[in-house]
Amino acid sequence: MAASGKRRTARGGQSGRGAARPAARGRGSGKRGSGRMTDLLTIDAMSPADLERTLALAAEFKAKPAKFATALKGKSVVMLFEKPSLRTRVSFEVGVVRLGGHALFYDHQAQRIGARESVRDYAKNLERWVHAIVARVYEQGTLTGLAAHSNVPVVNALSNEHHPCQALADLLTLRERWGKLAGKRLCFIGDGNNVATSLAQAGVLAGMIVTVITPPGYGLPEATEAKIRELAAAGGGELVISEEPGAVAGQQAVYTDEWASMHHADGAKRAKAFAGYQVNAGLMAKAARGALFMHCLPAQRGGEVTDEVIDAPTSVVYDQAENRMHAQNAVLLRLLAGK
Ligand code: CP
Ligand code: NVA
Repeated sequence: MAASGKRRTARGGQSGRGAARPAARGRGSGKRGSGRMTDLLTIDAMSPADLERTLALAAEFKAKPAKFATALKGKSVVMLFEKPSLRTRVSFEVGVVRLGGHALFYDHQAQRIGARESVRDYAKNLERWVHAIVARVYEQGTLTGLAAHSNVPVVNALSNEHHPCQALADLLTLRERWGKLAGKRLCFIGDGNNVATSLAQAGVLAGMIVTVITPPGYGLPEATEAKIRELAAAGGGELVISEEPGAVAGQQAVYTDEWASMHHADGAKRAKAFAGYQVNAGLMAKAARGALFMHCLPAQRGGEVTDEVIDAPTSVVYDQAENRMHAQNAVLLRLLAGK
C-alpha cells in the first residue's frame, strides 16, 4: 500500500476545517513496508508483509465479522464510479455497512471525474465530508490525483491498468484452498490487462510462480513486467511470460478474464486474436490434476471460458466474488481503523 505519509487529523481520517494539509506529492513512490497504509492504488505499493497482514485480517473478518461490527461507526465512504459494476459496488456498499459505516454511491458514468471541476478541487471538497474515497476510473492518474490532493484514503476499485481489490480477493480465495501460497503455480491466460497485472503483482509478492499467457501483441506492458519482476525479487516469487496456451501444463490454478475490457472498443478484433486462448475442458485437462479455475467476472460464457469449466466443481469464481467484500473490508480496517 502507498504509505507516503498522508496525514490524519484527530477526527480519524476526515480532515477538519483549518487542519494542516500536505502539499500535493507523488504517490507512486510511497515507502513500501513502512507498515502504515494510506491508500490502495496499486498492489505494487505493498510489501510482502503488508500483503500478508491484509490477507490475514480479511480471513479474520470473514471468520469473526461481529468483532468488527462497529469499526467504522460514524464514518462515511464515497464511491465514485465512472464504469459499470456489480461485484465491486455491492461488495463495498454491503461491506461498509457490516463495519458499521455509511457508504454513498455516486454514479460517474455520464461524466468523468475532473470534467466538471478539477480532480484537485474534487478531492478537496470530498475530504471535508467523507473518511475515504473508493473510485472506479478510466485513468490511473485520476486516482493518484485524488490521493495527492485529499487527506483521506483513496481505494482503487478498478482502473484501466490495475484492479488491486480483485487481486486481494483472489489471493484470499487461494489461501483458503491451499493454506500457504509460496511456491504454488498460478497462470493467467488471456489479455495482459488490469486484472492480470494486479494478480501477477500480488502472486509474486506472495511467493507464487505466476505465468502470464497472452496472444502476441496483448502481453503485459514492458514497464509492468519489469515492476512484477521487482516484486518477485521482494516476495520470493517468479514471473514467467508465454504466448503458448500449452503453458497451462502443470498449473495449479488457471485464471482468465474477458478478452475485451470495459475500456476496449475493439471486441471483434480481439475475439479473433484470442480464439486459441479459450479456457475449455481440453485446456484445463493440460493443467495439474484438480487445478482450480478462476475468473474475476463478469464472464463471457462461450468466449474466454466455456460453461463446463466455469460451472465445474473446481471453479472458485463465486468464492472470489464473495471474498471481494472480506478483502476490501480488511483494506478499510487498515486504512480507517488502524488495523
Ligand atoms: N470483478 C469485478 O470487479 O466485477 P464488477 O465489474 O461487477 O465490479
Ligand atoms: N478487465 C475487466 C475487469 C472487469 C472486472 C475490465 O476492466 O473491464
